[in-house]
Amino acid sequence: FRVLMVSAEAEPYVKVGGLGDVAGSLPKALLKLPKDVLEGNSLDVRLVLPFHPVIAREVAAQEPLVVVQVPKREGTVEARIYLSEIAGYPVYLIDGEPISRASTVYSLDSAQDADKYIFFSLAVLEMIQALGWKPHVLHAHDWHTAIAVYELARRRDQDDFYRGIKSLFTIHNLPYMGAGAEKVLPEYAIPPSEDIRLPWWGKSLPLPMALSTADFLSTVSPTYSREMLTSEFGCGLEDFLRSRSSTLFGILNGLDTQIWNPQEDSFILRKFSAENPRDRLPNKQALLDQLGLVPEEEAPLLGLIGRFDRQKGIDLAIGALRMMAEQPWQAVLLGSGDPVLEESARNLEREFPERVRVVIKFDLRLSHQIYAGADMLLMPSRYEPCGLAQLIAMRYGCIPVARATGGLRDTISDLPDPSMSTGFLFNEATPEALAEALRRAIVAYEDSTGWEMRQRNAMQQDFSWSRSAQEYYRLYRLLWL
Ligand code: GLC
Repeated sequence: FRVLMVSAEAEPYVKVGGLGDVAGSLPKALLKLPKDVLEGNSLDVRLVLPFHPVIAREVAAQEPLVVVQVPKREGTVEARIYLSEIAGYPVYLIDGEPISRASTVYSLDSAQDADKYIFFSLAVLEMIQALGWKPHVLHAHDWHTAIAVYELARRRDQDDFYRGIKSLFTIHNLPYMGAGAEKVLPEYAIPPSEDIRLPWWGKSLPLPMALSTADFLSTVSPTYSREMLTSEFGCGLEDFLRSRSSTLFGILNGLDTQIWNPQEDSFILRKFSAENPRDRLPNKQALLDQLGLVPEEEAPLLGLIGRFDRQKGIDLAIGALRMMAEQPWQAVLLGSGDPVLEESARNLEREFPERVRVVIKFDLRLSHQIYAGADMLLMPSRYEPCGLAQLIAMRYGCIPVARATGGLRDTISDLPDPSMSTGFLFNEATPEALAEALRRAIVAYEDSTGWEMRQRNAMQQDFSWSRSAQEYYRLYRLLWL
């Protein structure tokens, strides 16, 4: 059974966000599925990525495996396909002018991104034909690969080779639909969608175009798969998505438990396990030290890690902390993104120089140290299809305080009994609601026995990839029933 995974990013080649974790972990997990799950089938999973300039040339063979031509209205553009095997399974890297001229994986120039990813998507279809390797399922992720799904559906009507390839399209981030593509699509002779269920503005936007033509749709948590059907979360596609709800699935992402393992983590001072959450203490002290914060006896250390983006509710966290000046807490915010949010985080640090540290960058080592040393993780996301930080935090005994949305709601349990709980949840996307949950968390933190129960419980949750991989495999098979 052959599966081709198509993504803009994947570990260990290139990672910008959670998509890179998923697209890198899922193929590995699928290939490790036990025989009884596969029901006698053998599984051949391959991945295809753009050969972004940030990917080292050495990961691939020197000579292209095949060279194909991507058709345009006027002429063609050459795509060179390289094979890489450093991941332990075949990974194809596609190079060509629209890909090599862009210096970053995603850019602010939406027309340039549209050109790059439409070219990539079309090259994928040319590639499988040139290789004569016909997948049973083309599994595409997010808008960058949407046109592969759309064009596959068109070619299935015309070309025997593509007939019999089914498609699954997974949504990781619904608001990013591929704006900027309207002008580029005609250059590649791709007509707008004729699907009358789509709103007019969606007919020449890659993401909706794939949503209307993929055989199955999925997103990365069950709750988000339902939220998407509402006007609060549906980004204007809720009516359309409702029309597809019988072929829309929600499968939770896993966590790479080899990378994120507090028992083996070489970035942290003291390794620890669920047996002994108290062993985290030296990590907290070292972290405070490193940040130049003087430890406050009763104060929990709050961490916030992630893109400074409206999605992540950074403004809600800043607002809530400001409202809680009377309570004991210290906080560290790590991440970068929107300059306005960066500035308001810095302002918070200026207002509370003894309590707040803001580190504006992407720092993998520090992120490990925060997960291992902070007492709580703030995750007030406005929407969160799955979310990774809360999974890591729980595995590290850092208790999440999160909005009850999407994957956060599906992975965190907030119950009166601490031995059943793994975190604290709130509903409204407001600083007040977050502050309320934080107050509850701070009260709970004073009871060290209950807190330890919560930590142990959180650390023992099973978020391994094998469960998700099984569900994806079932979905692939279901496509063929
Ligand atoms: C996007 C979503 C995030 C999800 C990730 C991987 O980044 O915002 O919630 O975890 O994709 O699926």
